Amino acid sequence: MGHVTAPVLLLLGRGKDSNSERGVDCPGDLPAPSDPGLVERAAAAKAALGDRVFVLGHHYQRDEVIQFADVTGDSFKLAREAAARPDAEFIVFCGVHFMAESADILTTDAQRVVLPDLAAGCSMADMAVLEQVEQCWDLLSDLGIADDVVPVTYMNSSADIKGFVGRNGGVVCTSSNAKRALDWAYAQGEKVPGADAKQSATKVLFLPDQHLGRNTAVLEMGYSLDDCVLYDPHKPNGGLTDQQLRDAKMILWRGHCSVHGRFTLENVQAVRQQVPGVNILVHPECRHEVVTAADYVGSTEYIIKKLDAAEPGSAWAVGTELNLVRRLAAAHPDKQVMFLEKTVCYCSTMNRIDLPHLVWALEELVAGRVPNQITVDPDTAHHARVALDQMLALP
Ligand code: 13P
Ligand code: SF4
Repeated sequence: MGHVTAPVLLLLGRGKDSNSERGVDCPGDLPAPSDPGLVERAAAAKAALGDRVFVLGHHYQRDEVIQFADVTGDSFKLAREAAARPDAEFIVFCGVHFMAESADILTTDAQRVVLPDLAAGCSMADMAVLEQVEQCWDLLSDLGIADDVVPVTYMNSSADIKGFVGRNGGVVCTSSNAKRALDWAYAQGEKVPGADAKQSATKVLFLPDQHLGRNTAVLEMGYSLDDCVLYDPHKPNGGLTDQQLRDAKMILWRGHCSVHGRFTLENVQAVRQQVPGVNILVHPECRHEVVTAADYVGSTEYIIKKLDAAEPGSAWAVGTELNLVRRLAAAHPDKQVMFLEKTVCYCSTMNRIDLPHLVWALEELVAGRVPNQITVDPDTAHHARVALDQMLALP
């Protein structure tokens, strides 16, 4: 079987010129970043829109943006919040493209979802392209094992991939509910309810974050590293033998987060040496050896709660995006909160949403124009919704 060569980064937005660099232009007048009136302008535009607009802010957003969020959260909480606001005419999503797509799928047809900068994509989501995933599925079908495979996709994937998963009896998960989603997935193949999932033939194809899939399967569900195989879409047969695919319990897609993937075991060891008694708290998108060496692991929402509950005077090295770690350090002056890596680790695409783009988007809405609307085609949205609803219904 041949393999698909896809660009690592894709253009955002359907029908865009494939020769252009994405997101460098806004179709209007972007205010200058140096404009001293930006905070006032954002506040005035938001006030003028009143209840017509609801602003969602992911925890990795800049402080200058997060101050205007009506609610902040991890991707799971924001998906639920978007679904719970049927009266807001406009949802301004301060986050990245896959989150805005999910919000469009979960909101009513009358609501419009706006992403202030179309360049706010996600390199991890771009690592799984529908054509590649379909080719992988064809391979599993040719091997006669596709019927035993339940696809599970991380929220950090395109609507196309969520639609594929919904069409094939799978579920979406986030870093808050990955274990529950995998429990559900393995239970789909159980002949006897409650039987040991490890004895059944069921396998999971986990997209697109190999680390979240591996960390959850091995550290939370008791599978071994040998139960997991890594499918590389850029290699024939995924770089695996037929037997490896037949024997696997967990087929991990070869994708990763370019931010969390930067933390290393050496970072953990160095901070333990420098700060005796330090607690290491990391996101499950980090590599397996980092998560294994850490003291606590969880989603951004978990990380925030863990620090809220921490003893005054305790020391914490946190392995997640820097905007959040800096806010946590400022919010807990009685605790020592530090970044796990020495060098800067902002998510460059999350950071594309800045105050000028937010002001521009809100002022456009006030002027009666809907900028950067994110829409998912009805067929994809229908199937993606099946997989998202399945996630929202997980026990
Ligand atoms: P959560 O919001 O699920 O913690 O995920 C982190 C992330 O990388 C979002 O892009
Ligand atoms: Fe994507 Fe990682 Fe950035 Fe999240 S932090 S948007 S997973 S690149």
